[in-house]
Amino acid sequence: MAAARDINPFRFSGPLSAEDMIDRDPEADELLALVEGGHSFRLVGPRRYGKTTLLRRVLETAEREGMATVLVDLQDVLSIGEIVVRIERAYDRLKGAVRRHVDAMFRSWNIGLALGGGGFTATLQRNPNVDAESVLLRLLELPAALFDRAGVVSLIAFDEIQDVLAVPGADGKIRSVIQHHTDAATYAFAGSAPGFMEQLFADPKRPLLDQAVAKSLAPLPLDEVGDYVARRFEQTHRDVGVALTPMLEFTRGHPQRSMMLAHYLWQHTPRGATADEGAWVAALDLAAADSAPLMRAIWRALTPNERRMARALAITTTPLYGDETAAAVGIKRASIARALESLVNNADVIRAADRLTLTDPMFELWLRGRGLVPESGDDDPDENGREVAADSGS
Ligand SMILES: Nc1ncnc2c1ncn2[C@@H]1O[C@H](COP(=O)(O)OP(=O)(O)O)[C@@H](O)[C@H]1O
Ligand SMILES: [Mg+2]
Repeated sequence: MAAARDINPFRFSGPLSAEDMIDRDPEADELLALVEGGHSFRLVGPRRYGKTTLLRRVLETAEREGMATVLVDLQDVLSIGEIVVRIERAYDRLKGAVRRHVDAMFRSWNIGLALGGGGFTATLQRNPNVDAESVLLRLLELPAALFDRAGVVSLIAFDEIQDVLAVPGADGKIRSVIQHHTDAATYAFAGSAPGFMEQLFADPKRPLLDQAVAKSLAPLPLDEVGDYVARRFEQTHRDVGVALTPMLEFTRGHPQRSMMLAHYLWQHTPRGATADEGAWVAALDLAAADSAPLMRAIWRALTPNERRMARALAITTTPLYGDETAAAVGIKRASIARALESLVNNADVIRAADRLTLTDPMFELWLRGRGLVPESGDDDPDENGREVAADSGS
């Protein structure tokens, strides 16, 4: 099975299993300590920063400690019925005694929920007018019922929680139920857009949860990334060599981009060989070509002023708020702060070492490749707002 060992060891899509992760040990410990103390938390980090990966690791440990754990993926939900389906699907991954309890409750409620089979999706198809709101409320009460019946405490994670804002009334329904679960459940919320997360959690009149400790996810430590990449090259009979430094400089701790570039670099390094600068450049070219359609979609989802400031961040070296920068990218100086704020609110831009930087090094590279001269179609005058998230998934 010599060939089987020659599998690229760098995965760059979907959540990773705990043993494949780079670091995040302090984060995992801290979040677990919160959960063990019965404290809910919210985790904010840009897309592809490893939020789901980290949540899964925390949930796995909590499960070993006897909690009922469910991870609800709310990405791109558009209706209450869909939220019900996502939660039901999350419960469907339970095993053992807890699963039997949930199964029995779903049956006894008789409102169209089921583990396995078509579940609520089938119910919706049979009867599109079903009262999904009351089913949602019932489903949200499940942790309390589980606690009363079986004495089991739940850890419920809502991933990409900001997407419930697209469903009118959904955050209010969730809030109305989960506030009362102080003994029965702990909640974890993860989201990619700091602006929307603020909207959900920092409104003093109607926070999603009164107390949810805020944590934000930073880039990975470069030495940890370097060790991991070097070790995985070694384990697969390669040497990352001098290509490691430019790779770390380019990816600057962005979790998914680090894994992606390591993947392409590995691909350009034959078994038994040492990677060099040429291999790095080839890897970067290939990565750029493969991600060009996504870059274009990200670009299209920005407003004209956001595009101008993204371009400024990628290319100009003059002071960000100054006249020269404004002139170079064609923005009014008075509009700069707002455009930057909205890029930050969507995590397209992060503050790193006290300066604003584009979150995604691939997007920065793509912008540099296009230069400062706008191409036709860049600045669509009809387009005043963002299009629906063009950048979904990883
Ligand atoms: N701790 C980590 N170590 C190594 N790679 C990671 C880590 N966290 C995330 N990644 C990379 O990022 C990708 C996306 O991770 P994911 O957890 O889905 O991010 P998010 O939920 O924030 O969008 C993974 O496939 C992996 O390549
Ligand atoms: Mg995720």
